[in-house]
Amino acid sequence: PSPFLRDRFHRQHTYLRMSLTERCNLRCLYCMPEEGVPLTPKDHLLSTDEVQRIASLFVDQGVNKIRLTGGEPTVRRDLLDIVSSFNQLKHKGLHQIGITSNGISLARKLDGLVASGLTHLNVSLDTLDPFKFEFMTRRRGFDAVMKSIDRALELGVQSLKLNVVVIKGLNDGHDVLDFVEFTRDKPVTVRFIEYMPFDGNKWQVKKLVSYRDLVETIRSKYPDFARLPTKDDANDTSKHWQVPGHKGTIGFITSMTDNFCGTCNRLRVTADGNLKVCLFGNAEVSLRDAMRHGFDAISPLIPGSSSPATDEQLLHIIGAAVGRKHAKHAGMKDPSELAR
Ligand code: GTP
Ligand code: 5AD
Ligand code: SF4
Repeated sequence: PSPFLRDRFHRQHTYLRMSLTERCNLRCLYCMPEEGVPLTPKDHLLSTDEVQRIASLFVDQGVNKIRLTGGEPTVRRDLLDIVSSFNQLKHKGLHQIGITSNGISLARKLDGLVASGLTHLNVSLDTLDPFKFEFMTRRRGFDAVMKSIDRALELGVQSLKLNVVVIKGLNDGHDVLDFVEFTRDKPVTVRFIEYMPFDGNKWQVKKLVSYRDLVETIRSKYPDFARLPTKDDANDTSKHWQVPGHKGTIGFITSMTDNFCGTCNRLRVTADGNLKVCLFGNAEVSLRDAMRHGFDAISPLIPGSSSPATDEQLLHIIGAAVGRKHAKHAGMKDPSELAR
C-alpha cells in the first residue's frame, strides 16, 4: 500500500472521486441556485489529458475505484474518452469505473459508456412523481431520467443505485414508499441519503429526516423490512436493508446521525484540479497548478523548479495533503451533534 495515500489514522485511500464540471442541467432546490453556478473558464478546468494523468497516478498508488461526478458529469463532451482511457487502467488494478449522474442526458450515452468500461452507475433521483420532480429540480426531464434507468437495467450494468436525498415535508412521505415499491421487480439499490449542510444550501436541522425515522416510515407499510448483513466492503457508506422477496435493496447513507468517517477511503479532485481530502473540507492544494507551473506555483516555500511537476513531485504534494486529513468531517464540529 502506498504511503502517500495513507493518513495519520491509518486510513488507506483507494477510492478517488473526480469532478469533471461544476455545471449541471438541473437546479435541485437543495443544491443549486436558480441561476446556476458561475461558469468556470474552460482553461481553469482540468483537460482530458490532466484528468487521465491524475487517474493513472492514483491507480499506480493503489486506487481501485474511480467515480466521475459533477455538477453533472455528462455535460463534459470528453466523458466517453475519459472513461475509455480509464478502461486501460484496469490491468493496473482499477476495478470500478463509476459515474454519478442525474440521468437527464444519459440514456443515449449509456451504451457507449458501458462498452467503454463503465461498471458502476449511480443516478440521483429524489422522487418518482413527475410533478414533484419538476418542483424539486426546477426543470423538466423526469421521463428522460426514467429512460436512462431502464436502459441501464437492459444493459445490465454491474451496479445500479438510485440516490434519494430525503428532505422533511418535501419527499419524506409517499415518495419514500414509492421507491421501496420500485425495488419489488427491479434489481437496483435505492439509497436514502440524510440531507447534509453545505455552503449556502439552506440546510436546517428541521429538514433532516433521520435513518431511524425512515426505517419507521417504511416499516409502517412493509412490516418485514429487515436489515441485511454488512457487506464485505468495509468502506461502504450505506447500511443495507430489504423487503423480503423484493429484487432490489434499500441503502441508507447516514452521514448526519451516524457518520462513517472512521472508514473513509475517499479522496476528491475538483473540476479545477484541487485535491480535497474530505467532502466537508476546503480545497487543499491545486494539482492543476503544480502540473502546469510546478511546485513554486503552489508553495513558494518548497525549493524546486517552476517547471511542471513530475509525477514524483505530485505524489509528494498529494502525500502531504493526505497527511493533514482530520479524523472526521474536516475537523468541523461533528454534524451528528447538530442532528441530535
Ligand atoms: P458508491 O461507490 O456507490 O458507494 O458511491 P458513493 O456513495 O461513494 O457516491 P455517490 O456519488 O453516489 O454519493 C452518494 C452520497 O454519498 C452523497 O450524497 C453523500 O451523501 C455521500 N458521500 C459520498 N462520499 C462521501 C464522503 O466522503 N463523506 C460523506 N460524509 N458522505 C459522502
Ligand atoms: N446532502 C446529501 N446529499 C446531497 N447530494 C447533493 N446535495 C446533497 C446534500 N446536501 C447528493 C446528490 C447526488 C450525490 C452525489 O450527492 O443527490 O446523488
Ligand atoms: Fe445538484 Fe445533482 Fe441536482 Fe445537478 S442534479 S442540481 S448537481 S443535485
